[in-house]
Amino acid sequence: DVARLQQTMALSEVMSSAADWYRQQLKQAPRAVEYLKGRGLTGEIAKRYSLGYAPDGWQGLEAVFGTYANDEIAKTLLEGGLLIQSEQTDNQQTARRYDRFRDRIMFPIRNPKGQVIGFGGRILDQGEPKYLNSPETPLFSKGNTLYGLFEARQAIRAQEYVLVCEGYMDVVALAQLGFPNAVATLGTACTANHVRMLLRQTDRIVFSFDGDAAGQRAAQRALEACLPLMSDDKEIRFLFLPTEHDPDSYVRAYGAPAFEKVIKEAMSLSSFFFKIVSQEHELTTPEGRAHTHHAAKPLLLSMPPIALRTQILREVAIRTNSTPAELESFCGLTVAPAP
Ligand code: CTP
Ligand code: MN
Ligand code: MN
Ligand code: MN
Ligand code: MN
Repeated sequence: DVARLQQTMALSEVMSSAADWYRQQLKQAPRAVEYLKGRGLTGEIAKRYSLGYAPDGWQGLEAVFGTYANDEIAKTLLEGGLLIQSEQTDNQQTARRYDRFRDRIMFPIRNPKGQVIGFGGRILDQGEPKYLNSPETPLFSKGNTLYGLFEARQAIRAQEYVLVCEGYMDVVALAQLGFPNAVATLGTACTANHVRMLLRQTDRIVFSFDGDAAGQRAAQRALEACLPLMSDDKEIRFLFLPTEHDPDSYVRAYGAPAFEKVIKEAMSLSSFFFKIVSQEHELTTPEGRAHTHHAAKPLLLSMPPIALRTQILREVAIRTNSTPAELESFCGLTVAPAP
């Protein structure tokens, strides 16, 4: 019977069934459709990214999976982070189980095989948290997941580069407006695993974070994640937007050709490297130049011994009124001659 079938449902089937249901619910939720239209999204792009809507109720998914009182069903839903189990209280026989995602726009997150492994849910109006994400589950871990990679894979191959942004809306809006080769790190720092996943798809990455301070920090973290994985055939660049913009708002405000231009003018890894190590340091003083060497050392040491490391080291040395040999020796990259 149905109950027994559902007992044997694997976590991945549960996630995919939930995604299907959220998608269907969107069609019956004019408020949610209006929200997406208000953000400039078309039905076509909503379909391509399987966007959905989680209705405002506590037991919505019972319509798909049956009663949450069934421990087997609840176990898988809890494991997948779709249900929350409240603390048991004295006057309750059983702990209460309820939907994690309520009254939110649902963004299914897929693994590279296309299986749904988690969700991001955006609130329709103002409120906290703006985004609610699946917790870490046996299928989903943020540091190993790039939103939109499955959907973007072919475009990344065709365009021969990937755009890496922060958010769900950035990816979906960029895809709609002519940049289907975009993925997102989902607000977390870009990890070495993210970079490895990206470099398996393409040799060229353009990081495209928000223009605010958080986006600047994200870019620095991305640089740090990239350096150990660099090779001379890779091209990694960093795009910086005006403070008040993210890729979604920028491309909507100024259009695709303007964003194309920003991509073309993105800062090279070596320029960004120099900017990071020299920032706040006055290069006209010995102290400022010394501090720049101090900041450059761990970054240079994190790089493999590639030609780019030599070039960056030389550049930092020259701009700090030093010789490459002096900086190399400061970094411990040369063996001192025997006395
Ligand atoms: N994020 C999150 N939880 C939050 C805020 C942000 O998980 N409370 C993640 C989301 O993946 C979000 C990304 O960080 O997409 C970037 O955050 P932010 O720039 O604040 O959101 P936007 O993507 O710009 O969202 P929107 O345009 O819908 O406001
Ligand atoms: Mn932001
Ligand atoms: Mn945004
Ligand atoms: Mn943003
Ligand atoms: Mn410093």
